[in-house]
Amino acid sequence: MRKWSVGVCLALLALAWVRTSIADKDPTLDPKILHAPSRSPDRVILTWAGDPATTQAVTWRTSTDVLRAAAQIAEAEDGPLFKPKAVEHIAKSEPFKSNLGEALYHSVRFENLKPATKYVYRVGDGFNWSEWSHFQTASLSEAPVEFVYVGDAQNNILELWSRVIRSSFADAPRSRFIIHAGDLINTADRDEQWGEWHRAAGWINQSVVSFPVPGNHEYGKSEAGTRELNRHWRPQFTLPENGLPELPETNYYVDIHGVRVVALNSNLKHAEQAAWLDKLLSSNRNRWTVVTFHHPIFSTARGRDNKDLRAIFKPVFDKHRVDIVLTGHDHSYGRSNVMTGENRREGGTVYVVSVSGPKMYNVTPAPWMQRKAEDTQLYQIIRINGERLDYESRTARGDLYDAFQLRKRRGRANQMIDRTPDRPENRRPPAEPTGN
Ligand SMILES: [Fe+2]
Repeated sequence: MRKWSVGVCLALLALAWVRTSIADKDPTLDPKILHAPSRSPDRVILTWAGDPATTQAVTWRTSTDVLRAAAQIAEAEDGPLFKPKAVEHIAKSEPFKSNLGEALYHSVRFENLKPATKYVYRVGDGFNWSEWSHFQTASLSEAPVEFVYVGDAQNNILELWSRVIRSSFADAPRSRFIIHAGDLINTADRDEQWGEWHRAAGWINQSVVSFPVPGNHEYGKSEAGTRELNRHWRPQFTLPENGLPELPETNYYVDIHGVRVVALNSNLKHAEQAAWLDKLLSSNRNRWTVVTFHHPIFSTARGRDNKDLRAIFKPVFDKHRVDIVLTGHDHSYGRSNVMTGENRREGGTVYVVSVSGPKMYNVTPAPWMQRKAEDTQLYQIIRINGERLDYESRTARGDLYDAFQLRKRRGRANQMIDRTPDRPENRRPPAEPTGN
């Protein structure tokens, strides 16, 4: 009997070895082939580089044998007759060498668009075109707006993040933008991880604007040993350059429908960005202010507290009554009540830490957390309409996990109406006692 078992084990090991050897040699599993650029556009992604009411940016990738790159745009119509009316814009192209090989990144900024209008566009080289996709310009005045926010995607992106970002689109298909609060990938400068990130969201990125901020994993070491923004960031995202000049396309803001959405780069230059934000919000005429960055100033785990960052940023958030701060980094979920400042006439901010990818850390419960979660992948949908903001956080399978409403009150902090669903918090079971 024992001999028979040993024989089976050896046979299984041999089979595993043969399978591994085949996989090693299978060219379709080589990342260089899986993520190779071609003449057909891929990694097509909408971003804003200017006013969402009158501009739209699009960026995409091809192989280096594409000699011409352009985007065509027309006002959308009920049928196909828009095609002859499409106007062509020649793209700005830049060569890019990743760990997997060479490619070209192309970008076009559509300008002078009509506000509150649905457009149709495609990108290509004149022969190889993407499919036509829609985007909608923003209204010039205050109007309802809906957007998605996700924390770190980071690991096993195609395998385990895809269902989260796709569920968010299924639940909020009219979202105007998606906030990615840093750590979109795990290893700076690994093209296959960016390939997975683009593939997971697929054509969602062609119709919904991305609003990304960099996390610590978007930073790598330069040859000189200094921390440097991932080389993919700037070629593949065409973002506003209206923040600190030293932090182009990582510190920026956009105004849409009466909401100011601010991206801070929490990796560096904190004091400079706090001063910039103070000035920016002093002349803010939008009713709502949303701020996003990667490292939370209220952390969900002991030992991960970013005290210095809190000391620098929070007084500015309090002074200007930032409505909600959306962060990542802690690979768990935590959401506060409306937090006031030291001076009771100031403050009124809700702080959120969330995670959308599969990497999970423990939570250390703390009084600031009104709702928390471990081992849960989440996406958030935020809807703003006049005096009200409705927030919901849903799990990977689409179940409502957390919800609240904020109501504006003149001269006072926002009122929060807690709508946490009646279900227990997702917490890790206590570890089994081990040992003797
Ligand atoms: Fe992370």
